[in-house]
Amino acid sequence: MKFFIDTADIKEIRDLAETGLVDGVTTNPSLVAKSGRNFIDVVKEICAIVPGPVSAEVTATDHAQMLREGRKLAKLASNVCVKVPLTPDGLKTCKALRGDGTQVNVTLCFSAAQALLAAKAGASFISPFVGRLDDIGTDGMGLIADIVQIYDAYPAIETEVLVASVRHPIHVIAAAKMGADVATLPPTVLRQMFNHPLTDKGLAAFLADWAKTGQSIL
Ligand code: G3P
Repeated sequence: MKFFIDTADIKEIRDLAETGLVDGVTTNPSLVAKSGRNFIDVVKEICAIVPGPVSAEVTATDHAQMLREGRKLAKLASNVCVKVPLTPDGLKTCKALRGDGTQVNVTLCFSAAQALLAAKAGASFISPFVGRLDDIGTDGMGLIADIVQIYDAYPAIETEVLVASVRHPIHVIAAAKMGADVATLPPTVLRQMFNHPLTDKGLAAFLADWAKTGQSIL
């Protein structure tokens, strides 16, 4: 399973990229606004830090302008993955960009029907938002199960399932059990995944016992 990080915060990206566990980055207009940085500059910087796909989202809503924006974003770096919303214009743009050889992430997916359309449009990634479905009392992970099942039934579909709007490590584990290709994690969730109180307790005990030996490895 690939891990992307869901942030436009350069410091966080640098820090987490050093773990060697980050396969890509996803951004969206809200995350860019939160960063307070210029969008184009941030995308270029992220692409230089992380070799994997870096999702950069168009903000136009009509096909012609989306395509112009997408083509501009695609030129910023070879690892840019243009993000388009799951609308008729977004999917038309997805198809055109894929024709150019550009990676495309179709975002704001909330149903299996939408995911099927994105696959037909040749999306590189489909981003179902599990947390936002949970927030309205719907089963976010159930949607992942449906999409994985549908995509698996058609070997010709190459679209990767990118689990988005992840709120906690339980979402990640459930997605991994279902065989989802990617999860995009807020930095806090990736950090939470390292934690277990028994790891901390066990390490403290090992170090205390080691100190008693008076030895040193180096
Ligand atoms: O980047 C898309 C998605 O991960 C957003 O998540 O937390 O705003 O629902 P959230």
